[in-house]
Amino acid sequence: MTMSFLNPVTTQTWTNGRHLVRCVKVIQETWDTRTFCFMAEQPVMFFFKPGQFVTLELEIDGEQIMRSYTISSSPSVPYSFSITVKRMPGGRVSNWLHDNLKINDELAVHGPVGNFNLMDYPSEKVLMLSGGVGITPLMSMVRWLFDTNAAVDVEFIHSSRTPKDVIYHRELEHIFSRIPEFKLHIVCERSDELGEAWSGFRGYISQPMLELMAPDFMDREIFCCGPTPYMKAVKQLLEQNGFDMSRYHEESFGETPADVKEEALEHAEQAEVEAEELDAADLISVEFSSTGKSAYIKPDETVHAAAAKLGLHIPKACGMGICGTCRVQLTSGEVEMDHNGGITDEDVAEGYILSCCSKPKGDVVVDY
Ligand code: FES
Repeated sequence: MTMSFLNPVTTQTWTNGRHLVRCVKVIQETWDTRTFCFMAEQPVMFFFKPGQFVTLELEIDGEQIMRSYTISSSPSVPYSFSITVKRMPGGRVSNWLHDNLKINDELAVHGPVGNFNLMDYPSEKVLMLSGGVGITPLMSMVRWLFDTNAAVDVEFIHSSRTPKDVIYHRELEHIFSRIPEFKLHIVCERSDELGEAWSGFRGYISQPMLELMAPDFMDREIFCCGPTPYMKAVKQLLEQNGFDMSRYHEESFGETPADVKEEALEHAEQAEVEAEELDAADLISVEFSSTGKSAYIKPDETVHAAAAKLGLHIPKACGMGICGTCRVQLTSGEVEMDHNGGITDEDVAEGYILSCCSKPKGDVVVDY
């Protein structure tokens, strides 16, 4: 369909749920990163909270795959929304999107959802920290603050591998050159192999760097998104400074096999400590019958967390009960499932649960 113009009067607004959208634009942001823009067939105003994500429903090699991406556009330009995707070595979905998703292709999206967003933590002074393609939710926030003339003081620190990897570089420079209260700092790990010089900050984020770039970081609401090691380093830095972590908000993106392994290891260590600290009577047993493994968890932990402690990787996309990716069958026991529409009543009647948002009420057995 070719849309000659949009009519704001007949436009609907976006609500959380499943929607069919069409790819209307593909922008090559850097050598390995692309932005895909989407619109709905019937005009829809894509209102969401900057920082939130959508889950794409894709069919790859005959298999249905759900994958969540934070929205990189701003709701201040509401007729379309976009995601920005970097090719990942071995990243099945990101590579598929780069190789296959073209203008006019249709797909279904779920959302928007997500607690990592600007609206829920209003502040007059913010510090945004991003690493690599983790810049996407923060870009949505920056675009929103810029477009709405918000009276917010923004320090933005973006870390990139090399100068040629800086996503949205020219747009960032444009935005940050126009408002005195917006300050941009780009840190490059190193120069390009081909020698593009980098005269700015170099290396990894550190205490002296942070003090130079945002001397008042202790007074700011902090939003951070990037690879797991990056966020860990930032968190550690802030904790060492005694930062009030209730003002720190983070979002991880993608999951490399290494991240998953690391997470499983961490969970395993954590589980040991917790098991020692807690009275055995407080712990709940979660048994995975197909693999013959079982773990003890605290009453407020999910079935998915129990699997992760054992290194069992139940596929997960949204983590919020909307996409249904993490569905497993409960064969014994009861759970409290706090989902957002990702499972049908029929499935529930047949004993299926969404492991990401199901907390066992007592000992349970799951078929996995
Ligand atoms: S991961 Fe989406 S419903 Fe659990």
